[in-house]
Amino acid sequence: MSQEGAELDREPAVRVEGVGVGYGDVLALDGVDLAIAQGRVCGLVGANGSGKSTLFKTVTGMITPARGRVLVHGLTPTAARKRGLIGYVPQSEQVDWAFPVRVADVVMMGRYGHMGITRRPRAADRAAVADALERTHLSDLADRQIGALSGGQRKRAFVARGIAQGARVFLLDEPFAGVDKRSEATIVEVLRAMRDAGHTLVVSTHDLAGVPELCDEVALLQRRVVAHGSPEEVLTPQRLLETFGIEGRPVREVA
Ligand SMILES: Nc1ncnc2c1ncn2[C@@H]1O[C@H](COP(=O)(O)OP(=O)(O)OP(=O)(O)O)[C@@H](O)[C@H]1O
Ligand SMILES: [Mg+2]
Repeated sequence: MSQEGAELDREPAVRVEGVGVGYGDVLALDGVDLAIAQGRVCGLVGANGSGKSTLFKTVTGMITPARGRVLVHGLTPTAARKRGLIGYVPQSEQVDWAFPVRVADVVMMGRYGHMGITRRPRAADRAAVADALERTHLSDLADRQIGALSGGQRKRAFVARGIAQGARVFLLDEPFAGVDKRSEATIVEVLRAMRDAGHTLVVSTHDLAGVPELCDEVALLQRRVVAHGSPEEVLTPQRLLETFGIEGRPVREVA
């Protein structure tokens, strides 16, 4: 491990302290505290409007919190992003899919930070893109327009961009929304392999039934983190009823 890598390892992958974010009159996040250790998969669970996407945008540095602070491997989000440490898979409806780029171009965007100002890809960049496409099972679709992919394939394209970039922390906003079971299984396989390679993953999801299978820990969000621990500790029948109006343990049908 390089000295820089060892330095980054001393800090939690994600540290959120007392974060507050508002949109005009709407208080989206209010006193969010959350620390996620490196190499963990943390499920971010909460009802619609509970602040999941806002929290992701705050951790990426797209939103600057009115209160509190965020550190990614001990760095501010801006510094972490400059070093390419953060991979972000946005919620689908927040992306303009008409944008005319090929899958390979989207993944190559992850290499921009490694290129000079000319942004001319070198052999190493092309190799990194090919490797990321292979790891996300997208090699055959490299030349397809991003807008012509299925929802599950698009999410994998964003994961591939993060891999090509060399990101260490991946924030995935609803990666399973609108994807079929087969695509979901592929995404889970890709995410597991990333976790095994030492990456940290934060995954927001409504698929509560899939949480224990994928996640080492769960944070339940309701403008702030109301519970954080193992899936069994957090997803109690009482909390599920309070948060989602679900009776009993999560089962596939209610996810
Ligand atoms: N750009 C915005 N302008 C104004 N209000 C916003 C904006 N984005 C989000 N909000 C509000 O902030 C709150 C949190 O929204 P956010 O999108 O973070 O929730 P979420 O947990 O991701 O929801 P979902 O499960 O539906 O994706 C909601 O009340 C939402 O209406
Ligand atoms: Mg959201």
